[in-house]
Amino acid sequence: MVRLGRTDIEISPVGLGCMQFAGTGYVARWMVRPIDQESATSVVRAALGGGVTWFDTAEMYGNGRSEEMLASALKACGVAPGEVTVATKWVPLGRTAASITRTIGDRLRHLGGFPVDLHQIHMPTGSLSSLPAQLKAMALLLKAGRIRSVGVSNFSARQLELAHRVLAAEGVTLASNQVRISLLHRDVERDGVLDTARRLGVTLIAYSPLEGGLLTGRFHDDPALARSAPVMRRFFGRRELSAQGLARTRPLIEELRAIGKAYGASVSQVAVNWVITRYGDTVVAIPGASKPRQAAEAAGAMGFRLTEAEIGRLNALSLP
Ligand SMILES: NC(=O)c1ccc[n+]([C@@H]2O[C@H](COP(=O)([O-])OP(=O)(O)OC[C@H]3O[C@@H](n4cnc5c(N)ncnc54)[C@H](OP(=O)(O)O)[C@@H]3O)[C@@H](O)[C@H]2O)c1
Repeated sequence: MVRLGRTDIEISPVGLGCMQFAGTGYVARWMVRPIDQESATSVVRAALGGGVTWFDTAEMYGNGRSEEMLASALKACGVAPGEVTVATKWVPLGRTAASITRTIGDRLRHLGGFPVDLHQIHMPTGSLSSLPAQLKAMALLLKAGRIRSVGVSNFSARQLELAHRVLAAEGVTLASNQVRISLLHRDVERDGVLDTARRLGVTLIAYSPLEGGLLTGRFHDDPALARSAPVMRRFFGRRELSAQGLARTRPLIEELRAIGKAYGASVSQVAVNWVITRYGDTVVAIPGASKPRQAAEAAGAMGFRLTEAEIGRLNALSLP
Protein backbone atom coordinates (compact mmCIF):
# COMPACT_ATOMS: atom_id res chain seq x y z
CA MET A 1 0.00 0.00 0.00
CA VAL A 2 1.17 3.56 -0.62
CA ARG A 3 0.03 6.85 0.80
CA LEU A 4 -1.88 9.23 -1.49
CA GLY A 5 0.22 12.38 -1.35
CA ARG A 6 0.41 13.60 2.25
CA THR A 7 -3.17 12.61 3.02
CA ASP A 8 -4.16 9.79 5.38
CA ILE A 9 -5.53 7.77 2.44
CA GLU A 10 -3.72 4.50 1.64
CA ILE A 11 -4.09 2.88 -1.79
CA SER A 12 -2.75 -0.12 -3.66
CA PRO A 13 0.00 0.76 -6.18
CA VAL A 14 -2.37 -0.37 -8.95
CA GLY A 15 -5.90 1.04 -9.14
CA LEU A 16 -8.54 0.45 -11.82
CA GLY A 17 -9.28 3.07 -14.50
CA CYS A 18 -13.02 3.18 -15.18
CA MET A 19 -13.26 5.11 -18.47
CA GLN A 20 -14.54 1.88 -20.07
CA PHE A 21 -17.66 2.07 -17.87
CA ALA A 22 -19.17 4.89 -19.89
CA GLY A 23 -21.79 3.17 -22.02
CA THR A 24 -21.95 3.45 -25.79
CA GLY A 25 -23.69 6.82 -26.05
CA TYR A 26 -20.75 9.03 -25.09
CA VAL A 27 -17.47 10.27 -26.54
CA ALA A 28 -15.49 7.93 -24.27
CA ARG A 29 -16.44 5.14 -26.71
CA TRP A 30 -14.10 6.67 -29.28
CA MET A 31 -11.18 6.25 -26.87
CA VAL A 32 -11.93 2.94 -25.18
CA ARG A 33 -14.08 -0.16 -25.69
CA PRO A 34 -17.25 0.60 -23.69
CA ILE A 35 -18.66 -2.19 -21.55
CA ASP A 36 -22.07 -2.85 -20.00
CA GLN A 37 -22.98 -3.11 -16.32
CA GLU A 38 -22.61 -6.90 -16.15
CA SER A 39 -19.09 -6.76 -17.62
CA ALA A 40 -18.17 -3.79 -15.43
CA THR A 41 -19.19 -5.80 -12.36
CA SER A 42 -17.00 -8.73 -13.47
CA VAL A 43 -14.10 -6.35 -14.12
CA VAL A 44 -14.47 -4.75 -10.67
CA ARG A 45 -14.75 -8.20 -9.03
CA ALA A 46 -11.53 -9.33 -10.74
CA ALA A 47 -9.72 -6.15 -9.69
CA LEU A 48 -10.85 -6.52 -6.06
CA GLY A 49 -9.89 -10.18 -6.09
CA GLY A 50 -6.39 -9.23 -7.19
CA GLY A 51 -5.92 -6.72 -4.35
CA VAL A 52 -6.92 -3.45 -6.04
CA THR A 53 -8.31 -1.06 -3.42
CA TRP A 54 -9.23 1.98 -5.49
CA PHE A 55 -11.00 3.12 -8.62
CA ASP A 56 -10.61 6.14 -10.88
CA THR A 57 -13.68 7.51 -12.62
CA ALA A 58 -14.77 10.95 -13.90
CA GLU A 59 -17.79 13.08 -14.64
CA MET A 60 -16.56 13.16 -18.23
CA TYR A 61 -16.80 9.38 -18.66
CA GLY A 62 -20.40 9.31 -19.79
CA ASN A 63 -21.61 12.32 -17.81
CA GLY A 64 -21.86 10.35 -14.57
CA ARG A 65 -22.51 6.97 -16.18
CA SER A 66 -19.09 5.58 -15.21
CA GLU A 67 -19.56 6.72 -11.60
CA GLU A 68 -22.97 5.01 -11.52
CA MET A 69 -21.69 1.78 -13.05
CA LEU A 70 -18.75 1.71 -10.65
CA ALA A 71 -21.02 2.19 -7.63
CA SER A 72 -23.44 -0.53 -8.83
CA ALA A 73 -20.53 -2.88 -9.53
CA LEU A 74 -19.04 -2.34 -6.07
CA LYS A 75 -22.41 -2.95 -4.42
CA ALA A 76 -22.93 -6.12 -6.48
CA CYS A 77 -19.51 -7.29 -5.24
CA GLY A 78 -20.61 -6.75 -1.63
CA VAL A 79 -18.40 -3.70 -1.07
CA ALA A 80 -19.79 -1.06 1.27
CA PRO A 81 -19.00 2.67 1.04
CA GLY A 82 -15.74 3.41 2.82
CA GLU A 83 -14.26 -0.03 2.13
CA VAL A 84 -12.50 1.13 -1.07
CA THR A 85 -11.13 4.43 -2.29
CA VAL A 86 -12.98 6.27 -5.06
CA ALA A 87 -11.46 9.03 -7.18
CA THR A 88 -13.49 11.12 -9.61
CA LYS A 89 -12.97 14.35 -11.60
CA TRP A 90 -14.72 17.60 -12.39
CA VAL A 91 -14.59 18.68 -16.03
CA PRO A 92 -13.66 22.37 -16.43
CA LEU A 93 -14.58 22.81 -20.13
CA GLY A 94 -16.62 26.00 -20.63
CA ARG A 95 -17.46 26.24 -16.91
CA THR A 96 -16.64 28.53 -14.04
CA ALA A 97 -15.26 27.41 -10.67
CA ALA A 98 -18.77 27.77 -9.22
CA SER A 99 -19.74 24.60 -11.08
CA ILE A 100 -17.35 22.60 -8.86
CA THR A 101 -19.62 23.42 -5.93
CA ARG A 102 -22.79 23.12 -8.00
CA THR A 103 -21.97 19.65 -9.38
CA ILE A 104 -20.61 17.92 -6.27
CA GLY A 105 -24.17 16.80 -5.46
CA ASP A 106 -24.33 15.10 -8.89
CA ARG A 107 -21.01 13.33 -8.26
CA LEU A 108 -22.24 12.00 -4.91
CA ARG A 109 -25.64 11.04 -6.33
CA HIS A 110 -24.08 9.11 -9.23
CA LEU A 111 -21.73 7.40 -6.76
CA GLY A 112 -24.79 6.16 -4.89
CA GLY A 113 -23.46 6.49 -1.34
CA PHE A 114 -19.76 6.00 -2.06
CA PRO A 115 -17.78 9.05 -0.94
CA VAL A 116 -15.53 11.15 -3.17
CA ASP A 117 -12.20 10.23 -1.58
CA LEU A 118 -10.27 12.19 -4.22
CA HIS A 119 -11.76 14.94 -6.39
CA GLN A 120 -9.61 16.04 -9.33
CA ILE A 121 -9.61 18.95 -11.77
CA HIS A 122 -9.59 16.93 -15.01
CA MET A 123 -7.38 19.32 -16.98
CA PRO A 124 -5.72 22.71 -16.45
CA THR A 125 -7.35 24.32 -19.50
CA GLY A 126 -10.87 25.11 -20.72
CA SER A 127 -12.39 26.72 -17.63
CA LEU A 128 -13.82 30.24 -17.61
CA SER A 129 -12.25 30.73 -14.14
CA SER A 130 -8.60 30.88 -13.13
CA LEU A 131 -6.81 27.84 -11.68
CA PRO A 132 -6.61 29.50 -8.22
CA ALA A 133 -10.39 30.03 -8.26
CA GLN A 134 -10.95 26.36 -9.15
CA LEU A 135 -8.55 25.18 -6.45
CA LYS A 136 -10.17 27.38 -3.83
CA ALA A 137 -13.57 25.90 -4.73
CA MET A 138 -12.08 22.43 -4.22
CA ALA A 139 -10.60 23.50 -0.87
CA LEU A 140 -14.03 24.72 0.25
CA LEU A 141 -15.58 21.35 -0.63
CA LEU A 142 -12.95 19.60 1.44
CA LYS A 143 -13.47 21.89 4.41
CA ALA A 144 -17.22 21.31 4.12
CA GLY A 145 -16.55 17.56 4.38
CA ARG A 146 -17.96 16.78 0.94
CA ILE A 147 -14.69 15.35 -0.44
CA ARG A 148 -11.70 13.78 1.34
CA SER A 149 -8.81 15.09 -0.78
CA VAL A 150 -8.00 17.31 -3.75
CA GLY A 151 -6.07 16.35 -6.88
CA VAL A 152 -5.39 17.67 -10.36
CA SER A 153 -4.78 16.08 -13.74
CA ASN A 154 -2.59 16.88 -16.74
CA PHE A 155 -0.92 19.72 -14.81
CA SER A 156 2.59 20.89 -15.77
CA ALA A 157 5.36 21.37 -13.17
CA ARG A 158 4.58 25.09 -13.01
CA GLN A 159 0.84 24.48 -12.61
CA LEU A 160 1.60 21.89 -9.93
CA GLU A 161 3.60 24.47 -7.95
CA LEU A 162 0.73 26.92 -8.29
CA ALA A 163 -1.87 24.36 -7.20
CA HIS A 164 0.23 23.38 -4.19
CA ARG A 165 0.70 27.02 -3.18
CA VAL A 166 -2.97 28.01 -3.54
CA LEU A 167 -4.19 24.98 -1.59
CA ALA A 168 -1.51 25.36 1.10
CA ALA A 169 -2.71 28.93 1.68
CA GLU A 170 -6.15 27.40 2.37
CA GLY A 171 -4.61 24.85 4.74
CA VAL A 172 -5.20 22.00 2.27
CA THR A 173 -2.64 19.57 0.86
CA LEU A 174 -2.50 18.74 -2.87
CA ALA A 175 -2.81 14.95 -3.03
CA SER A 176 -2.11 14.05 -6.66
CA ASN A 177 -1.56 14.88 -10.31
CA GLN A 178 -2.92 12.37 -12.83
CA VAL A 179 -0.71 12.29 -15.93
CA ARG A 180 0.22 9.97 -18.76
CA ILE A 181 3.14 7.74 -17.83
CA SER A 182 4.28 4.50 -19.44
CA LEU A 183 7.43 2.89 -20.82
CA LEU A 184 6.68 4.75 -24.05
CA HIS A 185 5.66 8.03 -22.42
CA ARG A 186 8.31 9.21 -19.98
CA ASP A 187 7.82 12.99 -20.32
CA VAL A 188 7.52 13.43 -16.54
CA GLU A 189 11.22 12.59 -16.23
CA ARG A 190 12.15 15.54 -18.44
CA ASP A 191 9.47 18.19 -17.96
CA GLY A 192 9.95 18.69 -14.21
CA VAL A 193 6.65 17.06 -13.18
CA LEU A 194 8.33 14.11 -11.43
CA ASP A 195 10.86 16.24 -9.53
CA THR A 196 8.20 18.74 -8.51
CA ALA A 197 5.83 16.00 -7.34
CA ARG A 198 8.61 14.41 -5.25
CA ARG A 199 9.55 17.73 -3.69
CA LEU A 200 5.95 18.62 -2.84
CA GLY A 201 4.97 15.12 -1.69
CA VAL A 202 2.35 14.80 -4.43
CA THR A 203 1.45 11.37 -5.84
CA LEU A 204 1.50 10.98 -9.62
CA ILE A 205 -1.31 8.79 -10.92
CA ALA A 206 -0.15 7.20 -14.18
CA TYR A 207 -2.89 6.91 -16.78
CA SER A 208 -2.66 4.81 -19.95
CA PRO A 209 0.23 2.77 -18.49
CA LEU A 210 -0.34 0.15 -21.20
CA GLU A 211 -0.58 2.69 -24.02
CA GLY A 212 -4.08 1.47 -24.80
CA GLY A 213 -2.95 -2.15 -25.15
CA LEU A 214 0.24 -1.57 -27.16
CA LEU A 215 2.37 -2.57 -24.15
CA THR A 216 0.63 -5.93 -23.89
CA GLY A 217 2.32 -7.07 -27.12
CA ARG A 218 -1.02 -7.97 -28.72
CA PHE A 219 -0.58 -5.67 -31.72
CA HIS A 220 2.96 -6.97 -32.23
CA ASP A 221 1.61 -10.53 -32.21
CA ASP A 222 -1.28 -9.67 -34.54
CA PRO A 223 -1.02 -6.27 -36.29
CA ALA A 224 -4.49 -6.75 -37.83
CA LEU A 225 -6.00 -6.23 -34.37
CA ALA A 226 -5.25 -2.51 -34.70
CA ARG A 227 -8.14 -2.24 -37.19
CA SER A 228 -10.65 -3.00 -34.44
CA ALA A 229 -9.16 -0.58 -31.87
CA PRO A 230 -11.36 2.40 -30.86
CA VAL A 231 -11.21 5.21 -33.43
CA MET A 232 -9.22 7.75 -31.36
CA ARG A 233 -6.66 5.10 -30.40
CA ARG A 234 -6.24 4.25 -34.08
CA PHE A 235 -5.91 7.93 -34.97
CA PHE A 236 -3.56 9.08 -32.21
CA GLY A 237 -1.66 5.79 -32.23
CA ARG A 238 -1.31 5.57 -36.00
CA ARG A 239 2.48 5.88 -35.93
CA GLU A 240 2.95 3.38 -33.10
CA LEU A 241 0.49 0.93 -34.68
CA SER A 242 2.04 1.13 -38.18
CA ALA A 243 4.39 -1.64 -39.37
CA GLN A 244 7.42 0.63 -38.75
CA GLY A 245 6.11 1.69 -35.34
CA LEU A 246 5.60 -1.90 -34.25
CA ALA A 247 9.06 -2.83 -35.54
CA ARG A 248 10.52 0.01 -33.46
CA THR A 249 8.94 -1.18 -30.21
CA ARG A 250 9.31 -4.93 -30.83
CA PRO A 251 12.68 -5.18 -28.99
CA LEU A 252 11.02 -3.61 -25.93
CA ILE A 253 8.11 -6.07 -26.08
CA GLU A 254 10.55 -8.97 -26.44
CA GLU A 255 12.49 -7.79 -23.39
CA LEU A 256 9.24 -7.41 -21.39
CA ARG A 257 8.36 -10.99 -22.38
CA ALA A 258 11.80 -12.34 -21.48
CA ILE A 259 11.83 -10.61 -18.09
CA GLY A 260 8.27 -11.75 -17.39
CA LYS A 261 9.24 -15.42 -17.84
CA ALA A 262 11.33 -15.34 -14.64
CA TYR A 263 8.30 -14.12 -12.64
CA GLY A 264 5.61 -16.08 -14.49
CA ALA A 265 4.31 -12.65 -15.54
CA SER A 266 2.87 -11.39 -18.82
CA VAL A 267 4.19 -8.55 -21.00
CA SER A 268 1.53 -6.18 -19.61
CA GLN A 269 2.31 -7.10 -16.00
CA VAL A 270 5.98 -6.27 -16.45
CA ALA A 271 5.03 -2.98 -18.17
CA VAL A 272 2.78 -1.97 -15.24
CA ASN A 273 5.35 -3.14 -12.69
CA TRP A 274 7.94 -0.89 -14.36
CA VAL A 275 5.62 2.12 -13.76
CA ILE A 276 5.04 1.36 -10.07
CA THR A 277 8.63 0.32 -9.32
CA ARG A 278 10.78 2.72 -11.34
CA TYR A 279 9.56 5.86 -9.58
CA GLY A 280 9.28 4.44 -6.05
CA ASP A 281 6.20 5.44 -4.08
CA THR A 282 5.71 8.64 -6.09
CA VAL A 283 3.84 6.94 -8.93
CA VAL A 284 0.79 4.66 -8.85
CA ALA A 285 -0.92 3.32 -11.98
CA ILE A 286 -4.51 2.98 -13.23
CA PRO A 287 -4.59 0.54 -16.14
CA GLY A 288 -7.94 0.19 -17.89
CA ALA A 289 -9.70 -3.11 -18.57
CA SER A 290 -12.68 -4.16 -20.66
CA LYS A 291 -12.50 -7.80 -19.55
CA PRO A 292 -12.10 -9.45 -16.12
CA ARG A 293 -8.99 -11.27 -17.34
CA GLN A 294 -7.33 -7.92 -18.09
CA ALA A 295 -8.23 -6.52 -14.66
CA ALA A 296 -6.90 -9.64 -12.93
CA GLU A 297 -3.70 -9.39 -14.95
CA ALA A 298 -3.26 -5.72 -14.05
CA ALA A 299 -3.71 -6.50 -10.36
CA GLY A 300 -1.18 -9.33 -10.69
CA ALA A 301 1.41 -6.71 -11.66
CA MET A 302 1.68 -5.99 -7.90
CA GLY A 303 2.84 -9.55 -7.19
CA PHE A 304 6.54 -9.14 -7.93
CA ARG A 305 9.23 -6.47 -8.05
CA LEU A 306 11.58 -5.79 -10.98
CA THR A 307 15.27 -5.54 -10.14
CA GLU A 308 17.27 -2.40 -10.87
CA ALA A 309 19.10 -4.24 -13.65
CA GLU A 310 15.81 -5.20 -15.31
CA ILE A 311 14.50 -1.65 -14.98
CA GLY A 312 17.74 -0.39 -16.54
CA ARG A 313 17.36 -2.73 -19.53
CA LEU A 314 13.76 -1.59 -20.06
CA ASN A 315 14.77 2.08 -19.70
CA ALA A 316 17.39 1.69 -22.42
CA LEU A 317 14.93 0.04 -24.82
CA SER A 318 12.14 2.53 -24.18
CA LEU A 319 14.10 5.67 -24.99
CA PRO A 320 12.95 7.38 -28.21
N1 LIG B 1 -6.84 12.13 -16.67
C1 LIG B 1 -6.87 11.92 -17.96
O1 LIG B 1 -6.81 12.87 -18.77
C2 LIG B 1 -6.97 10.51 -18.46
C3 LIG B 1 -6.79 10.20 -19.82
C4 LIG B 1 -6.86 8.88 -20.22
C5 LIG B 1 -7.13 7.87 -19.28
N2 LIG B 1 -7.33 8.20 -17.97
C6 LIG B 1 -7.58 7.17 -16.94
O2 LIG B 1 -6.67 6.10 -17.13
C7 LIG B 1 -7.40 4.86 -17.24
C8 LIG B 1 -6.67 3.93 -18.15
O3 LIG B 1 -6.51 4.50 -19.43
P1 LIG B 1 -6.39 3.62 -20.74
O4 LIG B 1 -7.63 2.79 -20.90
O5 LIG B 1 -5.96 4.52 -21.83
O6 LIG B 1 -5.18 2.68 -20.24
P2 LIG B 1 -4.28 1.52 -20.65
O7 LIG B 1 -4.13 0.78 -19.38
O8 LIG B 1 -3.07 2.04 -21.32
O9 LIG B 1 -5.06 0.63 -21.72
C9 LIG B 1 -6.13 -0.17 -21.32
C10 LIG B 1 -6.54 -1.05 -22.48
O10 LIG B 1 -5.51 -1.98 -22.83
C11 LIG B 1 -6.08 -3.21 -23.18
N3 LIG B 1 -5.62 -4.20 -22.20
C12 LIG B 1 -5.55 -4.06 -20.85
N4 LIG B 1 -5.06 -5.18 -20.29
C13 LIG B 1 -4.81 -6.03 -21.29
C14 LIG B 1 -4.29 -7.35 -21.34
N5 LIG B 1 -3.92 -8.00 -20.24
N6 LIG B 1 -4.15 -7.95 -22.55
C15 LIG B 1 -4.51 -7.30 -23.69
N7 LIG B 1 -5.02 -6.06 -23.70
C16 LIG B 1 -5.16 -5.42 -22.52
C17 LIG B 1 -7.59 -3.06 -23.13
O11 LIG B 1 -8.04 -2.69 -24.43
P3 LIG B 1 -9.40 -3.32 -25.05
O12 LIG B 1 -10.48 -2.85 -24.16
O13 LIG B 1 -9.45 -2.74 -26.42
O14 LIG B 1 -9.22 -4.83 -25.00
C18 LIG B 1 -7.75 -1.90 -22.16
O15 LIG B 1 -8.92 -1.19 -22.36
C19 LIG B 1 -8.79 5.29 -17.72
O16 LIG B 1 -9.76 4.33 -17.42
C20 LIG B 1 -8.98 6.57 -16.95
O17 LIG B 1 -9.39 6.27 -15.63
C21 LIG B 1 -7.23 9.50 -17.56
